Parts: sequence; structure tokens; C-alpha cells
Amino acid sequence: MNGLHVAIIMDGNGRWARSRRKPRWRGHLAGVDSVRDVVRAAPDLGVRTLTLYAFSSDNWKRPPTEVGRLFWLLREYCARERDELLANGVRLTAIGRRDRIPASALRALEAVEQVTAGGTTLDLRLAIDYSARAAITTATKTLARRVARGELRVDALTDRELNDAITGGVPAPDLLIRTAGERRLSDFMLWELAYTELYFETATWPEFGRSHLEHALADFRRRERRFGAAGPKEQTVPASAVAEAVGAVG
Ligand code: IPE
Ligand code: IPE
Ligand code: MG
Repeated sequence: MNGLHVAIIMDGNGRWARSRRKPRWRGHLAGVDSVRDVVRAAPDLGVRTLTLYAFSSDNWKRPPTEVGRLFWLLREYCARERDELLANGVRLTAIGRRDRIPASALRALEAVEQVTAGGTTLDLRLAIDYSARAAITTATKTLARRVARGELRVDALTDRELNDAITGGVPAPDLLIRTAGERRLSDFMLWELAYTELYFETATWPEFGRSHLEHALADFRRRERRFGAAGPKEQTVPASAVAEAVGAVG
């Protein structure tokens, strides 16, 4: 699969609203427009997979009225965007727990998942009632059951099996963006982000749009990803020089 995987922690809706003397939910409402902008822009900018953190498992700690409005917005988003997503070849899927999502929002979500299942332009993944630690725990349980059934030897268990169980084979994000200036992961994709490039944006999520995404991607393209290896210049050192240096140390 070609194209980048970009993950976004969409933060700052409340602050956006507060600075405009509006209630918090108006920030969430404005945030839906940013989702639409970013989803429209992503394929042109070389993004093939887009994972958006929409609701964390810790967000249940918020007042029930705010939580209710967030799921109402999810339902509206699914109902309103359905045709456009389908026309643009966007495949929408949700990651996270489904059993606590209010029934009407879940119905709308699963209906969009179903109609857009054939989309090949953009993989849009919404993280809803998502917790990375819970995802890792669930994957561990799945593997433990396979071991208990005798299908998998403990010694054959490598990070590859764990990776497949956690990610379902979706490649790790190349770039993580968090808006609104906070520099933390808030239990998002802890396993997958091992070598992801991090980008912190000061604009709040409702302010974020195509130009911000372009800027983040331009910054990403200037970076040198090493995955633990030496940089390209250092790699040209002949093996004999390495042996000599190691000999000198030993
Ligand atoms: C992000 O904005 C939306 C969700 C977490 C659902 P916030 O609601 O966290 O906004 P701030 O961080 O309070 O400004
Ligand atoms: C993370 O943002 C969750 C989402 C963006 C959906 P929060 O606003 O909930 O995170 P904290 O509480 O600031 O860490
Ligand atoms: Mg926040």
C-alpha cells in the first residue's frame, strides 16, 4: 500500500470555544468542519491512511451532556458525510470499543462502514472509545488464548505476532499531529508510534485545515528517518574502518 499514514490527535475544541465565549460543544461542532477539510485534502497530499482520535476511553469522564453531544455529532457526521465519502472513495472504519457507543450513533457508524467498505482512495479510521493500553491488553489476551489452545508456542511469540494482533496489519503512522499545543499522547497508539515522527501544532482543532496539514507534511518530508540505523553519510564508512575502530576499543 503506497501513501502515508497520518494520525491526528484532534485537540483544543474546548479552548477554541472558550476563547470565543461559546459553550464547549460549539467547539466540537466547529471541529467537524476541520474533519471534513482534512479528509478532503488528505488524498491530494499523498495520505493514504488517516487515523483521527475522536473520543478516548478516558473521555467518558466528561459531563454526560458533553459526551451525549459528541456522539450526536458522530451520528450527524456519519449521516451527512456518507454520500461524499462514498463518492470520493473514502473507506471509513472505527477502531476502539463498540459496546459502549450509544445505539443510534453506532447504527449510523456501522451503516457508513458498510457502504464505504469498497473505498480505495483513503482509509479513514476514527478512533472512538479508544485506548491504546486497552488495545494492547486485548491483543495480549487474544495471543494468550492461542497459547492456551496449543496453537502458538510461547517461544514462537515475537513482536510480529503482537504487532499483528494490535494493528490488524495496518502499517504504523508515519506522522502524528497533535493540535492545540499539548505535547502528550493521551493513550493514543502507544505501540504503533514507536518510530512515528511527531508534530505539535499550536492551532486548535477547529482552526486546523488543509494549509495546516500541508505545512505538517512539508515539515515531515524534510526529516531524516533512521529507525535506529546510522545516518546516510555515516553508512558509507567502509567495513574495514569499523573493524579497526572496534579492535581499538576492544
Ligand atoms: C478535543 O478537544 C475533542 C475531544 C477530546 C473529544 P477538547 O474537548 O479536549 O478541547 P480542550 O482540550 O478542552 O480545549
Ligand atoms: C485526547 O484529548 C483525546 C482526543 C483528542 C479524542 P484529551 O483532551 O482528552 O486529552 P488530555 O486529557 O488533554 O490528555
Ligand atoms: Mg483536550
